[in-house]
Amino acid sequence: MNKWGKISLGMLLTVGLLTGCGQNKNDNNSAAAGNTDKAPTTKTITLGTSADFPPYEFHKVVGGNDTIVGFDIDIAKDIAADMGAELVIKDLPFESLLNELSSGKIDMVISGLSPTEERRKAVDLSDIYYKAQQAVVVREADKDKFATMDTLKGAKIGVQAGSIQEDIAKGIEGAQLTSLTKISEIVLQLQTNRVDASIMEGPVAKSFVKNVKGLVITDATPEVEDDGYVIGIKKGNTELLDQVNKTLTRLNSEGKIDEYVAAASELSESK
Ligand code: ARG
Repeated sequence: MNKWGKISLGMLLTVGLLTGCGQNKNDNNSAAAGNTDKAPTTKTITLGTSADFPPYEFHKVVGGNDTIVGFDIDIAKDIAADMGAELVIKDLPFESLLNELSSGKIDMVISGLSPTEERRKAVDLSDIYYKAQQAVVVREADKDKFATMDTLKGAKIGVQAGSIQEDIAKGIEGAQLTSLTKISEIVLQLQTNRVDASIMEGPVAKSFVKNVKGLVITDATPEVEDDGYVIGIKKGNTELLDQVNKTLTRLNSEGKIDEYVAAASELSESK
């Protein structure tokens, strides 16, 4: 290699090194710039929920505006407030919630979510924040006919797609399932004689039978392994999981959750 060749190779290396440094510097700068850019706009936390589920989460006209309310929403607001973040709510089909969470489109799922082994594998789950039992809803005339779980054998049962109630119904011998996206659609199926019964959370059943004429809760009580509700967080996001559990502990110790449940139940049963 002649002298010029050596020089240009030397320059090339120098340029390369400088560029390398520059890039690192730029990365740092852009990260810093990103942070400062974000500082003035408020931090947000996006909640995914299926707002068909009074008193947990449901639509209500408040002050002339369609609003998503419910005790899960109250809890979400507290989590956001404790984080100093603004709450963004996305109303999604229940069966899509955990996928949306894993793909990062939402930050947390609060949707009357029951902890199951399968779900625990896919996402992280918070501590239990509330407990309730399952109920069976039928037409008034069928109340005595479906008084035990055994009588549901071979019946047409409406359930929410992707819910634990769908699994419960699958376990009933000969049951014919209709799996739908929204609880209100199942209620309509019941009213129009397309299904005989529906399995849903007790508080949800109570709210619907209060508002829908001709439907009642039977004495049949479906058994579930874990009757509590949890919040779903993307797998590995321990920072948010810790924050969520911290807020839940605070709300529990202040007796707030029972307060929220009572208020939301009243709101869901009012016209
Ligand atoms: N607890 C049941 C489950 O986790 C049903 C939840 C449905 N939630 C809703 N917002 N529709 O499978």
